[in-house]
This record gives sequence, structure tokens and C-alpha cells, in this order.
Amino acid sequence: MNNSTYDKKPYATLALAEGELSRIAALARLQGLDVADPSHCSVLEIGCGTGGNSIALAERYPHSRFVAFDLSARQIDEAIALTTRCGLQNISFVASSIDGFACEPETFDYIICHGVFSWVSPEVERQLFALCARALSPQGVALITYNVNPGWRQRGALRDIMRSGAFAHSRQGSPDEQVKAGMELLSLVTTVREKGDDLYGRYMREGLSRLQDAPASYVFHEYLEQYNEPVLFSDFMVLANEHTLQFLSEAKPSMMSSEYLGLEAAKYLESLRDDSTAREQCLDILTNRMFRETILCRDSQPLKRDLKSSVFRTLVFETDYRMVSEAARADDGKVEFREIGSQRVIRAPRDEHAEVLSMLGRYPFGRGEFALLLGQLDAKGSPLDERALLGVLVTLWRSGFVNLLLPQEMPTAAKGRAQSSGIARFQAEGDGAVTSLLHRSHMLRGPERECVKLGDGALSFEDIARRVAMVAGEREAREALERVRELGFFYSSSHSG
Ligand SMILES: C[S@@+](CC[C@H](N)C(=O)[O-])C[C@H]1O[C@@H](n2cnc3c(N)ncnc32)[C@H](O)[C@@H]1O
Repeated sequence: MNNSTYDKKPYATLALAEGELSRIAALARLQGLDVADPSHCSVLEIGCGTGGNSIALAERYPHSRFVAFDLSARQIDEAIALTTRCGLQNISFVASSIDGFACEPETFDYIICHGVFSWVSPEVERQLFALCARALSPQGVALITYNVNPGWRQRGALRDIMRSGAFAHSRQGSPDEQVKAGMELLSLVTTVREKGDDLYGRYMREGLSRLQDAPASYVFHEYLEQYNEPVLFSDFMVLANEHTLQFLSEAKPSMMSSEYLGLEAAKYLESLRDDSTAREQCLDILTNRMFRETILCRDSQPLKRDLKSSVFRTLVFETDYRMVSEAARADDGKVEFREIGSQRVIRAPRDEHAEVLSMLGRYPFGRGEFALLLGQLDAKGSPLDERALLGVLVTLWRSGFVNLLLPQEMPTAAKGRAQSSGIARFQAEGDGAVTSLLHRSHMLRGPERECVKLGDGALSFEDIARRVAMVAGEREAREALERVRELGFFYSSSHSG
């Protein structure tokens, strides 16, 4: 029925952290949109690939209803197999094109469309917006991700070379053969430009090493597909507006902040205060942005653009950063934090930010509510009062060190038992990325995978450490277990039996 290049070369779909429903919901509520609570809502994923994003969400929100579709029947078959394996009843998958997908109007509270918009023809882009406009519930939100210009133009040169290599030597070849032919030409470019220190040579050398490290499926679909047409944000918004949709927010609000661009930029952007499209477009240019994760809603919904502290303080604050050490500070005297699951180290702007961030990092999953933070500050005699705490949290959020979530109950494990999610246990059997309970994807080492796999709720953490130690050694097993617990692969223990 369908003729998708993804049937020939499937793409392993991962959880999209910014698509965690309570994260989208928090941004919508902050602007006065009464979007449905993620725990009881309906969700549509367009172009869901092999289902890794929607399945993790469906497991996380068992009382919500999920529908996901993709053109590639092979990928949909994989998604259905994974759903069956996880025993989920609240999600259905359909092999369909965007224009062929049928649903009742105004059905879905959340629509997610990740990595599709730039990768289809202009005609399908329009069909995508038309579907969102038709299927979104009145207070619904749609998250659409896409590549943007002018930032992506540099990568466009890499794409031209890759496509020229495939055209020259593998016009009718399989995806893997095309990738090989493309890389050969790119490699030749770097050899020819080896001696010069010109911009072109440097950029291609860097591009080659990036593509060599990337999975072949990504390289093929990003650099060799017929379509990968980045857009100017303003053109994206023209299309959205034509389909009665308006801009609500970027899924990563720190990307909307102008605070770190200097005074001149701030002044320029301030002159565009009342024109969110022009302002965002200029931000793309100033930050050389290549990719967007834009949240849209119906243009009939009145939005409150100014930050409402009364709503802000009702949300949950979440951080992926943990303090490096109580004692050591960076050369400039600032406290350092490392991002869990990466090598990234950041410095808290000031001591009060460090105090709040380290406190948050010690809560389960790095998540805490305003009242909890305030109470703890008060108990330890901190000079930070309610107003100051609010200011600190706003800064941390705008800097991207803290995410906002709509409060949600997290399921718990039986007391003393280690419980990971069904999808993580399944993914841990393979060699690809594994999804944490925080809806993040992580590459795990062997012993870490073992720990996640053993988390079926029957064993304690001690049991798991002992079992993994039999194969990996005691120290390695302890470290692996510590890491996956920190990454949020295990539910917290319930207080009752
Ligand atoms: C880059 S992949 C992204 C898949 C998934 N969202 C992810 O993030 O891994 C693009 C997906 O869009 C699907 N697609 C392309 N054109 C489509 C169309 N007209 N209708 C439905 N799906 C389409 C492809 O089959 C593919 O799975």
C-alpha cells in the first residue's frame, strides 16, 4: 500500500523529552490555556516511526488514550509488536499517510509530530497543518519539530555533497550503499582540503566526523532523503496561521530567552516585543539555531503572554543537574553542576541559584514543588523568602536548568522492590537507547542494561546488585545500579507494603 523509504531503512524512534505531556501542559497552563490533564487525555502522534515515544507515554499515562500512525507499515508492525510486549491496552497504531488519516474533528488534546515536517513535500506539510487544525480539541496543543534556516543552511552543504556522492555511484543503491557513496565523496572533500585552513575544509572535516559517529539510519534519512527542507520560522508561522493555529511557546523555553545575548540584542528584540514571530525569527538568526520544537494552539484561544507567578508556583520544578561537590568550586568561585547522563557541566549564576538547584537535585527524580522547596529553605534558616525563591526559579527555568511540569502522580513500586518500566526492560535487551521514567533516552552499558532488565518488581535493589555482580564484578554492578537509579529508571518505593 505505502511506499516509504522507512520500510527499507527503519528509524529507531526514541522518547522525545520535550514531548513529555506534563511538560507541554505546564507551558500551556502558564499562558492561560486550560489544556487537558495528561493523566486523562487523548493524544495523537503523527509520523510515529517505530513508536518509541508514544509507547513510553502510554505506559506512563495508563488512563489516557493514544493513537499513533506512520506511512511506513514496517515501522508500524514494529510498534505494534512492542506494544503487545509491554501489555498496553490504551494505544493503537495505524499504517496511514497524513492525508489518509481519518478521525473525528476536535478529538485530540495533544498532537505530537516529531521529525516529520521538514522531511516531507510542501504539499504534505500543508496536509499536516490541516490535520492539526481539524483534529485538535478546542484547548488542545500541537508540538511540531522541524529544521530551521538560516542555521541549517551550513548543514545543507553537507547534504548536497552526500547526495552528489550517492548520485554519482549509487543512484539505484540500497540506503546503506547510498550512505557509503555519500561518505566517500565527503571524505574526498576533506582530503582535498586537508592542507588549507579555510572555512569550507574545516566545516567538512567536522561534518565528516559527526556523520561517522551517527547511526546509518539517521545519516540516510537526514542527508540523503529526497526531502529535508528547513524553513524560516516566519514561513512556518505563515502556514500555521493560515490553518488557524497560533504560536504558544517553544518546548524549550530557554531557547526563547534573550538574556545571554547582550544589551544590544536585548534592545533589538525588545523592539519586537509585540510581534512574537519576528522576535523568534531574529532569535534564530542571533543564536544560529538549526532545529525547533514549536507548540501551537488554536488562534481562537486568548493567551496571557506575561508570566503569572500565581500559576508558576503551582507547577513542579525538575532538574537534570546534580551538584558536583559541596566543597569544590570553579575558578570563578561558582558552584558547578553536572547533567545526569552527559558530560556537561554548568555553573550556577549565583549562590542562591546553587542552593535551590542542589536542593531540587536531591529530591526523587530531581523534582519538587514550590511549597516543599520553600519549607526546606525556611527550616534551614535560608535568607531566601517566597519572592526570592520565585525569582531564582524563574531564572533557573529561563536558563534551561529547570523544567516545569504540571503536577502528576508517579506510579510507585512495592516497598523494597525495584521496578522499571516495561518499555525500558524491553529496550534494555537490545543495544539501542533505553527510555527512563523521565522520558529521556540513554545509551546504557552492559551491566546497566542488566539492572534495568531485572527491575520487574520481584527483586530488591540488593538482589539486583548481587545478581549483576556475579557477571560484572561487585564494583561495576554497584556503579551501574547507582547510575541507572540516578537516571530515573526505577519507580520510587511506596510507603505502604
Ligand atoms: C524522521 S522520521 C521520524 C519518526 C519519529 N517521529 C521519530 O522521531 O523517530 C519521519 C517519519 O515520518 C513518516 N512519514 C513521512 N511521510 C509521511 C506521510 N505522508 N504520512 C505519514 N507519515 C509519514 C516516515 O515514515 C517516518 O517514520
